[in-house]
Amino acid sequence: MKIIRSVRAMGKEIKRLKKNGKIIGLVPTMGYLHKGHISLLNRGRKENDILIMSIFVNPIQFGPEEDIKRYPRDIQRDKAIAVREKVDIIFYPRARDMYPSEFRTYVDVERVTEGLCGGRRPGHFRGVATVVAKLFNIVMPDRAYFGQKDAQQAIVIRKMVKDLNMPVKIKTMPIVREKDGMAISSRNKYLDNKERRAGLVLSQSLKEAKDLVKRGIKDVSIIKRKVTELIRTEKPACIDYVEIVDKEKLERLKYIKKGHTLIALAVYINKTRLIDNITL
Ligand code: PAF
Repeated sequence: MKIIRSVRAMGKEIKRLKKNGKIIGLVPTMGYLHKGHISLLNRGRKENDILIMSIFVNPIQFGPEEDIKRYPRDIQRDKAIAVREKVDIIFYPRARDMYPSEFRTYVDVERVTEGLCGGRRPGHFRGVATVVAKLFNIVMPDRAYFGQKDAQQAIVIRKMVKDLNMPVKIKTMPIVREKDGMAISSRNKYLDNKERRAGLVLSQSLKEAKDLVKRGIKDVSIIKRKVTELIRTEKPACIDYVEIVDKEKLERLKYIKKGHTLIALAVYINKTRLIDNITL
């Protein structure tokens, strides 16, 4: 496995691989790998000749209130996982190489970035779209892999790729959950035992929503109320949003549209913000 740290060296390597007709898969990450990332690596390994994983804690997707220094990092552990998952190259650039002081260009995807997490974290998706566009230009992947856990992120990236005619196929992989239903996330590490138990309310309330729909309830306001009530039974939980939207346009719905509905939650468990979602 190679570790490449400079944009220039990565470009050279890609040129060589493309010349040899290699199909390239990219798994973009911010490191601190968990089972969710591993599912992306597994799929990427199966579908491509060369599997590249980027590790870059992207400063421009963090808001002024969000502490980038607090973001968990463990590069030695990530390297060991990458070897085990048969990654060919880790692209691990430095911030000054990705964003030199004269950097001035950003990618803004409109509409789909306005609600859900976009409404709560202004500038976040501009940062995500910009770094992903840069990674696509540097790595030139044939396929790139993202998790459904960040449902809005996957939609924003698909929209960017379509609108800007980027020659890459976006693959979205299902949410990986713990046995008890908790969606796996790097942020779970911030939770103590009590908070971890309270955090379960996200997946439980999504399950409750699914059951209500199964029982024939289509009115979004009823489902939202039930989900909200259930989350509020947990003392450390504070709702950031509960949204029921069209799963592609991310526009609010009044009634459940079978096969086209996304229920997305963001909930603070004390200081830690967790997200989860299901599609119906
Ligand atoms: O999902 C993430 O880890 C990040 O948002 C991504 C896609 C790697 C961009 O920094």
